[in-house]
Amino acid sequence: MDNAAQRLIVALDYPHWDEAEAVVKDLREVLFFKVGLELYLSSGGRAVEKLRELGKEVFLDLKFHDIPNTVAQACRQAVKHGAALFNVHGSGGRMMMKGAAEATKEQAQALGVRKPLLLAVTVLTSMNEKDLEEIGMYGVQEGVVRLAKLAQETGLDGVVASPREIGLIRASCGADFKIVCPGVRPSWAATGDQKRVMTPKEAVLAGADYLVVGRPITKAKSPREAALKVLEEMKEAQQ
Ligand code: C5P
Repeated sequence: MDNAAQRLIVALDYPHWDEAEAVVKDLREVLFFKVGLELYLSSGGRAVEKLRELGKEVFLDLKFHDIPNTVAQACRQAVKHGAALFNVHGSGGRMMMKGAAEATKEQAQALGVRKPLLLAVTVLTSMNEKDLEEIGMYGVQEGVVRLAKLAQETGLDGVVASPREIGLIRASCGADFKIVCPGVRPSWAATGDQKRVMTPKEAVLAGADYLVVGRPITKAKSPREAALKVLEEMKEAQQ
């Protein structure tokens, strides 16, 4: 398994498990898949387990955001499901993130499994300054840095952020803090609703640890060809 294949996460945003499974089986070179709300619900909560049975690693992207106790208990379940990565909303605040980090560590120890990487969502990559202003928040970059620092302070392993914010996050949180980047668009793909984008090559060069790519692969005529093209671009950046 080469390095690029360990860093590409394909987002399986599908309304039926069968469709997702067919794509997973087709994408032999991809190790990591992301399960979001749509597939988690449409699979009756079984998507993580099913992907593990297919020998895949899973990023469970349910973006927990609730009172600390509720989120901590949900984190325990995410560990039990076998997710390698999962996330909470950084805007849930200090106590919520601290409780999530502690519960994740405890549950992994209790089960004797490797602790999943716990990530904070900073500012959704679909939002720009204008969208934030509309909900009473100002400054994408300031918000991203603030939430990334708080996540690190409270014991999280990294953040989900736009590749455009990697430099800022690295400067504040250092080289070991994991950065997982959606909002990745190869030059040959449509942007869709993502507003703060970079190509796979640019994102790797900028220092992303993992890239999350959904529609450019899943909606392509041949998802396997599209995935191979993305992997190729990522490898070029590593040379
Ligand atoms: O299809 P596309 O490549 O835009 O998919 C990106 C995936 O990453 C989606 O599943 C989306 O929910 C997720 N995501 C995101 N921005 C974040 C966190 C997750 O786009 N900040």
